[in-house]
Amino acid sequence: MDCAPLAPPAAGSATVRTYEELIDMVIASLRGRRMLPDGEQSTPWDAFVRLSERIHSSYHVPHTTVTPVMRRLLFALGAAARAAHIVGVGTHVGYAFSWLLGDRRELDRAPLDPWQTALGFDVDTSANVVARRNCAMLGHETRLAFIDGDGVSGLERCQAAIDLLFIDLDHPVTRKAGYRDVLERALPRLSSGALVLAHDSCVPLFQHDFAVYDRFVVESGAFVGPCVLAVDSCGLSVATVR
Ligand SMILES: C[S@@+](CC[C@H](N)C(=O)[O-])C[C@H]1O[C@@H](n2cnc3c(N)ncnc32)[C@H](O)[C@@H]1O
Repeated sequence: MDCAPLAPPAAGSATVRTYEELIDMVIASLRGRRMLPDGEQSTPWDAFVRLSERIHSSYHVPHTTVTPVMRRLLFALGAAARAAHIVGVGTHVGYAFSWLLGDRRELDRAPLDPWQTALGFDVDTSANVVARRNCAMLGHETRLAFIDGDGVSGLERCQAAIDLLFIDLDHPVTRKAGYRDVLERALPRLSSGALVLAHDSCVPLFQHDFAVYDRFVVESGAFVGPCVLAVDSCGLSVATVR
């Protein structure tokens, strides 16, 4: 499925939108396509600002391609998804994953039930050490764990049905080829309505890997999507279990 890209205002147009307004439009569009649960709940942008201040004053992030608009998109999707069980594959130092997870102090104030479990997988054990340290300040305690090892085989460890799957692995040789493998292994474990987010769908280097991934999404018949959100040069692919 092609989704309308977020285009810049037409030449001569006076319309200038903030990132928050753009992301709210994306969320409304995904709700309209039944790719997110129904709801009038707006993104708690004040909570995003507090989360951003906490993360950027305390996290150690050696490198990231997550842009300001992608941070907001991940945060808004995490808030709108109403997921109970979250899994990330290729979570590195926990930076991208944190925008989905949010801060427990804010989640406990929200009108909806906060998520119950989150697992992040990474083959890089030293990145997991940093992820655990970084994310400790989010207050999720034992609900959040970072697991050393391959996320494809690690999915066997998931006891509960997965409501939100974030795929962001990057192998030095096979790069994003593992995205399809993660999705195939996760599919029997995804709940009805589960949201699958795949980062870097707009990166030219990864177009072959995403073509393979997209073919699996479509041919499985299990999803609405994929919908590519070209909010920045990395992009995010979204698919929702029917
Ligand atoms: C480049 S990082 C993602 C960073 C994120 N895109 C950002 O900009 O903040 C990709 C991670 O995938 C991990 N990885 C590669 N293959 C994996 C696999 N099979 N299972 C879990 N993690 C994997 C790498 O160790 C690496 O930490």
